[in-house]
Amino acid sequence: DPAEKRPALLPTTPAGIARAGELLRAGALVAFPTETVYGLGGDATDDCAVAAIFAAKGRPQFNPLIAHVADVATAQAWARFDDRALELAHQFWPGPLTLVLPRPADSPLSLLVSAGLDSVAIRVPGHPVAQALLRAAGRPIAAPSANRSGAVSPTTPYHVLESLGDRVDAVVAGGKCAVGVESTVIDLTGPEPVLLRPGAVLPDEMERLIGPIRLSQGDPTAPKSPGQLESHYAPNAAVRLNASSAESDEAFLTFGPDRFVFGGASRLNLSPQGDLNEAAANLFSHLRQLDQSGAGRIAVMPIPDEGLGVAINDRLRRAAAPRP
Ligand code: TXA
Ligand code: MG
Repeated sequence: DPAEKRPALLPTTPAGIARAGELLRAGALVAFPTETVYGLGGDATDDCAVAAIFAAKGRPQFNPLIAHVADVATAQAWARFDDRALELAHQFWPGPLTLVLPRPADSPLSLLVSAGLDSVAIRVPGHPVAQALLRAAGRPIAAPSANRSGAVSPTTPYHVLESLGDRVDAVVAGGKCAVGVESTVIDLTGPEPVLLRPGAVLPDEMERLIGPIRLSQGDPTAPKSPGQLESHYAPNAAVRLNASSAESDEAFLTFGPDRFVFGGASRLNLSPQGDLNEAAANLFSHLRQLDQSGAGRIAVMPIPDEGLGVAINDRLRRAAAPRP
């Protein structure tokens, strides 16, 4: 009975990590911490393991996955790096940046990872547990965020158990993720770099190294119409953005000093000091907690659209987008 299946909770000790590596090499699914969010890992060279990731998440097959490796040298075996890619890799890896690069024609990486595209998304995570696990596995690990497709990303092992508890073989139980929102994704397959997802590595920092980047998303000067926004990162409750106060039946997600802000049946503050890094780290866990408060709707105070606030607002707009 699959409903009876319970994942092994593995400690972040050398023995726990060795066991997780063994499981990955045997084709199992292992959730593990990265500095951004928890990933649902599977052997990226094993079609069955990658297919199992899609099935566990309930994810549409056309959405490609990120291959995670331990260092720049290993990454170069799995994707074609030009000078721009090398500049960014040396500056920001290990760290919360994903590069979309041309996929070598003879790549042994599962075609499912690229979802049929001739590109591959690759990332070297900085979290020490992720680093140790990638070395133990000894092969690239495909890992989307460890949540059901479209739902809020997990930033603790408990979130993973809540969302995928019966669909994952093991969870490496590290602590809370420090960054809290998924990696920045930049597409370097064409002449002009394109930002596909805002994250903790900011466009300005990258532009200093590789020149102008087209901001396809998260660009405050080019907001997409709600109809174009893919619903994603969505709690069960409806989400109402830019709220200056909350109704008595709403949960209230606030930011900055909120003593004189009115309303909310329950409320949580992303960062009373107004620190965007702290707000990003708290975003998904606060959304989950307010969702569990039973309110049918979550009102959210405005977040400054600068620095990591761009990534936070990107995730909040998707959480508020019309559901399929
Ligand atoms: O922080 C993160 O990136 C986390 C941790 C676990 O590493 N992973 C993550 O994976 O967020 P996922 O699958 O939830 O998001 C991957 C993003 C998606 O937006 C996907 O469309 C994009 O990367 N992507 C992956 N491969 C791509 C490709 N070949 N071309 C364009 N976009 C790609
Ligand atoms: Mg995701």
